[in-house]
Amino acid sequence: MTVGQRAWKRHARLAVCSTRSLRCTSATLMAHLQPPFGTTVFTMTDQAIINEVGLRDGLQNQPVTVDTATKAKLAQLLVDAGMRYLEPVSFVSPKAIPQMADAAALTPLLPQGNDLHYTALIPNLKGYQLARDAGYPTVGLVLSTTDSFNERNLRMSLEQAAQSCEAIIAAAKADGIATRTYISGAFACPYDGPVPVTLPQKLSERMFAAGSDEVAIADTIGAGNPQQMKDIMAPLIQEFGAEKFYVHLHDTRGLAAAMAWAAADLGVRRFDASIGGLGGCPFAPGATGNMATEDLVYLLESAGLKTGIDVQGLREAVALAAEATQRPLGGRILGWIESQEKQGKTACIG
Ligand code: COA
Ligand code: ZN
Repeated sequence: MTVGQRAWKRHARLAVCSTRSLRCTSATLMAHLQPPFGTTVFTMTDQAIINEVGLRDGLQNQPVTVDTATKAKLAQLLVDAGMRYLEPVSFVSPKAIPQMADAAALTPLLPQGNDLHYTALIPNLKGYQLARDAGYPTVGLVLSTTDSFNERNLRMSLEQAAQSCEAIIAAAKADGIATRTYISGAFACPYDGPVPVTLPQKLSERMFAAGSDEVAIADTIGAGNPQQMKDIMAPLIQEFGAEKFYVHLHDTRGLAAAMAWAAADLGVRRFDASIGGLGGCPFAPGATGNMATEDLVYLLESAGLKTGIDVQGLREAVALAAEATQRPLGGRILGWIESQEKQGKTACIG
């Protein structure tokens, strides 16, 4: 049975079982029963998690290498604004990504607290060992959808990269470290173009089978659209549950917000984002920044999902990130807030 067929079976079962509790009308029940899966019914009081990746994905591709103290200050501003999930570093070859060479030095300078959740991105077993030794409770693994991308990014074929992830997941399990596997280039490869939806689905299945705690569906070059998001994720969510997934979006063609909402509509509540829209991958030509954290907060909050993050509080972080990288930054919502302020109005967010 394919992932789609299994998911359809489970979805049909769920839709029938939950008819009473969801108070489905017959029309909405019919919508549930139409493959490829109607939208999940959810209450608009849900919590959403935003994982700030600006310090890693945002800074790894900048011509300016931001100093360690400034990175720590940026992390503090983000935490002050309510951010509780951050990916501040990657443990990668300093020759490949010099901007991340201070990962071990930055780690003890980060804000501390039991409610703070840090992830380190790792490309291989050596990176895993460095992240473990630095005390990270969660690691982000990278598995791209094509040979070309894996070779450029990790110097491994797709099969080698998948096996490397399996070995790291096994090691992390033994060490009590949580794993999130990024399916990178899930919508398109920067070298080979569009990939079929079955490919990220199969790789996700394989990583869950290996024991990955979470999977992140990553549009690394910002080439996807909301329908593809649904086509990839709906069967996976039915199979594994929405709580197992993150989405990671780059806003290259302006569809990141629409794709985030498509995922939210399916029940996804975990999102990566980058302060001010910083971002890019040195091995993914054409990729621009991630979805701006402030725009994602606004999107989710305005639609009734709680993030715990204050957009106003993020403004200082955007200003520091812009100063440190010597480039203009900021999501769309900031311009609107400024225009409201110029008119003497209080911008109401969320
Ligand atoms: N962290 C730090 N150093 C590492 C490392 C890691 N995770 N993995 C390898 N190295 C070091 C090796 O020790 C070796 O150092 P040396 O030259 O001083 O002896 C050097 O890097 C080369 O090691 P090798 O195993 O031959 O790796 P490689 O040259 O084939 O490069 C990667 C492979 C994955 C390490 C490198 O391409 C990389 O770090 N890429 C970063 C990918 C990335 O972050 N992409 C963006 C995010 S998705
Ligand atoms: Zn990215």
